Amino acid sequence: PAVAALIARLPKTELHLHIEGTLEPELMFELAGKNGVTLPYADVAALRAAYDFSDLQSFLDLYYAGAGVLQDEDDFYRLTFAYLERAHQDKVVHTEIFFDPQTHTARGVPFAVVLAGIRRALADAHAKWGMSSRLILSFLRHLSEEDGMATLEQALPWLDAIDGFGLDSSEVGHPPEKFARLFERCRALGKLVVAHAGEEGPPGYVWQALALGVCRVDHGVRALEDDALVEKLAASRMPLTVCPLSNLKLCVVDTLAHHPLKKMLALGLCATVNSDDPSYFGGYVGDNYVACQQALSLDADDIVQLVKNGFEASWLPEAEQARYI
Ligand code: ADE
Ligand code: ZN
Repeated sequence: PAVAALIARLPKTELHLHIEGTLEPELMFELAGKNGVTLPYADVAALRAAYDFSDLQSFLDLYYAGAGVLQDEDDFYRLTFAYLERAHQDKVVHTEIFFDPQTHTARGVPFAVVLAGIRRALADAHAKWGMSSRLILSFLRHLSEEDGMATLEQALPWLDAIDGFGLDSSEVGHPPEKFARLFERCRALGKLVVAHAGEEGPPGYVWQALALGVCRVDHGVRALEDDALVEKLAASRMPLTVCPLSNLKLCVVDTLAHHPLKKMLALGLCATVNSDDPSYFGGYVGDNYVACQQALSLDADDIVQLVKNGFEASWLPEAEQARYI
């Protein structure tokens, strides 16, 4: 129908994407073979069959294990370029990518190796398609604030390549306030900060993320349980990077028909559509738009609003946003 054609045609952003979550099973097996890593699955089909999650943690366990096949610069290049090619097919013209350095440095892979591979792919996508990007170093919240501080130290020589900082991994039990000093340091360095909040955690965690000085909230769907919070988020046009198929796969919603995306638009929230970890959640950003359009009967105005919100929420200068909205 016409709305599906509209989704396919519109230039888009993607603002919530973990590069390690784009590792497709085929590449995981190929790199495991190359790097001498043994995966506890017989083949690609057995691995895919394990992508049946009950909550965030059950996914994270697999996601961190999978990332173990990434070892040299070329591995990170191939991972990133494969994502960028796939995003380009979905008419993504601007992407803001999370990477989790602690997952790699803890295994002895140098920070500089991870960054070099990712950056070379971003440069190639810019040269080939004019695709623009930003890079967000995301701290793992199940680790200590001190571990995050040490990671920030390692990042200092590369600050020109890092546009902002984020907070991800196991949410419940690791509230944003645990990282108040770390985020203060990131902001003192002149960087933008974002945080996952209100994915599995309560609205109070979204309030705490705001107190960290975030310019976007990643997920934020549970903010809808708190009217005062919704009012504040809407009045300030605080962007929420919503990831519908992720929410479905991690049982944040029981069915996509119950997803709050349409309600978020009706409330005047700056909700955006993103894929989070597309290899694990069964869809890239275009698939997220299409699935929501069908499940929630989104009309053309809803789709256009979501796409516009993506540019408004991006870190592109306003003059560049204006080329698309
Ligand atoms: N790391 C990768 N994907 C994540 C998610 N959806 N929530 C928290 N941490 C993550
Ligand atoms: Zn995420």
